[in-house]
Amino acid sequence: MATNVNGAALDDSPIPQAVQKQSKQTVDPYNVSGEVGEDGVVKAIDYNKLVDEFGTKKIDDELLARFERVTGKRPHHFLRRGIVFSHRDFELILDRYERGEPFFLYTGRGPSSDSVHVGHTIPFEFTKWLQDTFDVPLIIMMTDDEKYLFSEKKTIEEVQGYCSNNAKDIIAIGFDPAKTFIFSDFDFVGGAFYRNIVRLSKHITLNQARAIFGFNDSTNIGRIHFGSIQGATSWASSFPHIFGEDESKTVGIPALIPCAIDQDPTDFRMTRDVSARLKYQGKPYAKPSLIHALFLPALQGPGTKMSASIDESAIFLRDTPNQIKNKINKYAFSGGKVSAEEHRIHGGDTSVDVAYQYLRFFLEDDEELERLKVEYESGRMLTGDMKAICIKELQKYVAAFQERRAKVDDEAVKLFMTRRPLQWRGNPRAPRVVPTVENGDANNAGPEGEGKLTKNQLKKLEKQKQIEAKKAQKAKEKAEKASTEAA
Ligand code: TRP
Repeated sequence: MATNVNGAALDDSPIPQAVQKQSKQTVDPYNVSGEVGEDGVVKAIDYNKLVDEFGTKKIDDELLARFERVTGKRPHHFLRRGIVFSHRDFELILDRYERGEPFFLYTGRGPSSDSVHVGHTIPFEFTKWLQDTFDVPLIIMMTDDEKYLFSEKKTIEEVQGYCSNNAKDIIAIGFDPAKTFIFSDFDFVGGAFYRNIVRLSKHITLNQARAIFGFNDSTNIGRIHFGSIQGATSWASSFPHIFGEDESKTVGIPALIPCAIDQDPTDFRMTRDVSARLKYQGKPYAKPSLIHALFLPALQGPGTKMSASIDESAIFLRDTPNQIKNKINKYAFSGGKVSAEEHRIHGGDTSVDVAYQYLRFFLEDDEELERLKVEYESGRMLTGDMKAICIKELQKYVAAFQERRAKVDDEAVKLFMTRRPLQWRGNPRAPRVVPTVENGDANNAGPEGEGKLTKNQLKKLEKQKQIEAKKAQKAKEKAEKASTEAA
């Protein structure tokens, strides 16, 4: 009996196999593909390589232990399993939480179609968990303008239609309306937000935009400018109805941005760079922190992500239990061997087995997941069994989503999208503190620098640096001790 249907699934696959030439892996907001080897086969995306290339930091056990100490909460299974695997300055957010200082969560979605799949909901599920954990405001940006600018065919009316339906999908994840503001760029650009957009755009040259985004002379100028809109949402002073009118205070409140890793190179690297150079009355803009998730692979394998426009590549939130079953049985790339006999002798490869990989995202029970891995790799468990478990978990997830989604009406969308104050408490174990700026670079005042830091601020920064150095030293000693003990 053949346990592995990859040959048939690939013949049938709607994903064009145009990528047969050898090529390097590409990950940016507009392309995601693993390396193509000499044999023309797409490899899994190498996330370690991305961490090196982008210059982000891996989330390690020490950071997770600190997270648990500070929040009193066990890290989410995405964190425990390396699905949310990389970050920029996440430790600064933990510092702030510990001290009761404000920050907010920011994420977004480009409404490009009504076809929302389970790959889209992953960062939002994680964001909801962060909101529940930290009890802070969350801002969700709907980039209808981006989807108009980056599509050849879509009209403004079309993307606006997707926007309200996508907002319903997002609300159905379970966000708290008292703490969440969703906005559409077409509706919200203006006032304080627009001032920040222009501040940001003034500090990016065409050369820099080209280097970051790969634009060329034929790129429409709307696309070139768009990054400043996505970036300016990282600044709390864009939202006076939430954080207050006093920019000298709000300028120091940083965002924590949960997103898929493809969003990193663009606006946030760019925005972090400009934040360090820009000052408001001598006070630097807080750089956003980021926390990155990897992609939920397409059914066809771990070298690419699900696509909203290719039905057979993804499990959609509108899929029926039967469609879910058929898609997984027919298309899910298998890490099993070609025959049951061989599989029983050599075992399967969970690192490429799509059914197992999906279970890492959707099955919360660590012990059960480990058991499946051991059984599959030993050869005792066959591809069909792994798929059956995956089907059950996904059917459960999608059914629960559909039930919540049915309850979201136009009124709810209006509520979430109305400009209004939000209510949040932050860390219940820390006193609430007035905002302070800590991740701006004092030595890096750019042309807009409207004055130097005060003596007090410099002192504070110096102290901060000393604390960081001490912490680093302690961590190093601890690691050394642990490794000598282990030896
Ligand atoms: N550009 C993103 C997309 O196309 C949407 C987006 C805007 C976003 N701001 C964000 C995603 C912040 C993650 C984090 O889907």
